Amino acid sequence: MSSNKINVGRVVANPQLCREHYRLTVRLAGFAQAEAGQFVHLSPTADMLTEYREFSTSGSWDGAGWLRTVANPMLRRAFSIAGMRAVGDDVELDVIYRVVGKGTSWLSRLVSGSSLSVLGPLGLPFPIHSTKPHAWMVSGGVGLPPMLWLSEALAKVGKKAIAFCGAQTADLLAVTMSGERSPRADAANATLSAKEFAASGTPVVISTDDGSLGFSGHIGAALTAYHKAQSCDADDLVVYTCGPERMMAFVARFCFDRGIECHVCMERSMACGTGMCQSCVVPVRDDDTDGAWRYRLCCREGPVFSAEDVLWESPAMAK
Ligand SMILES: Cc1cc2nc3c(=O)[nH]c(=O)nc-3n(C[C@H](O)[C@H](O)[C@H](O)COP(=O)(O)OP(=O)(O)OC[C@H]3O[C@@H](n4cnc5c(N)ncnc54)[C@H](O)[C@@H]3O)c2cc1C
Ligand code: FES
Repeated sequence: MSSNKINVGRVVANPQLCREHYRLTVRLAGFAQAEAGQFVHLSPTADMLTEYREFSTSGSWDGAGWLRTVANPMLRRAFSIAGMRAVGDDVELDVIYRVVGKGTSWLSRLVSGSSLSVLGPLGLPFPIHSTKPHAWMVSGGVGLPPMLWLSEALAKVGKKAIAFCGAQTADLLAVTMSGERSPRADAANATLSAKEFAASGTPVVISTDDGSLGFSGHIGAALTAYHKAQSCDADDLVVYTCGPERMMAFVARFCFDRGIECHVCMERSMACGTGMCQSCVVPVRDDDTDGAWRYRLCCREGPVFSAEDVLWESPAMAK
């Protein structure tokens, strides 16, 4: 696996994509080779810490103010790599993020030329070495970014890929739709109308919980409807999924019941990102231990796991 290190990058662009989502592009010198599913850990550079501390401790904080003051500028935030390309001797790296708290709110204020500390690439990528010809990517919310890059990698090795993209509502879907306003609302057919996936020739099935775009319902229901209409032999198919844990548990069960290979990209709060703090555990099956399970570190032994290994019913999983 590639080595990782801290790079200081320069922000190239940071446009807002839809309500609460932004795409940050950072230019870096000497960033190691990376693959889809890996992530970066971002923080302000030393020269921006004072500004960040002032920003992250202003406003309506809860009682733990002293901890926030210390912790917020110190702890990095994890983001999947949504795309990466060579630009001369440098690389440009894309991250798509949803503003949920102080760190991502601060990120959304970065302008072209701002500096940013980037630790990575971290974690293990999605495996795409199987000979199975079909690949279905199922994402919900901010599970979308790693799928954008994965779609490029799948196209390069000639897989027939489909992207299933779910969001709560249309303006929380971080893809640009062209043409039809409600692409294939029946979910039985995929369409090439999402600009970001069209670049790799990947058709999409869109769903929104409130029915404001595409199939009305959650993305697991759209996946089920599509599979029923366009069945694909289990031996020919690999499913990749990333998003809310309940959604991934649904997809894992869907695949398990049908004998389909499935890989999940998990999220955990990550303090160090490199295996030192032990804060990011995921309970997994392990027949070599007494209880037949153990914890694995999401940052170093993940974030991509085989769906069959994850103990979805464990109390240690988020509900
Ligand atoms: C491997 C990995 C890849 C990720 N990729 C992306 C990505 O591509 N795009 C993206 O928008 N986000 C991604 N995340 C989640 C992202 O790290 C968090 O949203 C971010 O750290 C929040 O920072 P904050 O300071 O804005 O929020 P905070 O103030 O720290 O928290 C605000 C809210 O978000 C919740 N939260 C914080 N961190 C996480 C987390 N890791 N998982 C779930 N909920 C969290 C908190 O519980 C709280 O409710 C990823 C996380 C991991 C571990
Ligand atoms: S985040 Fe520290 S061990 Fe995983």
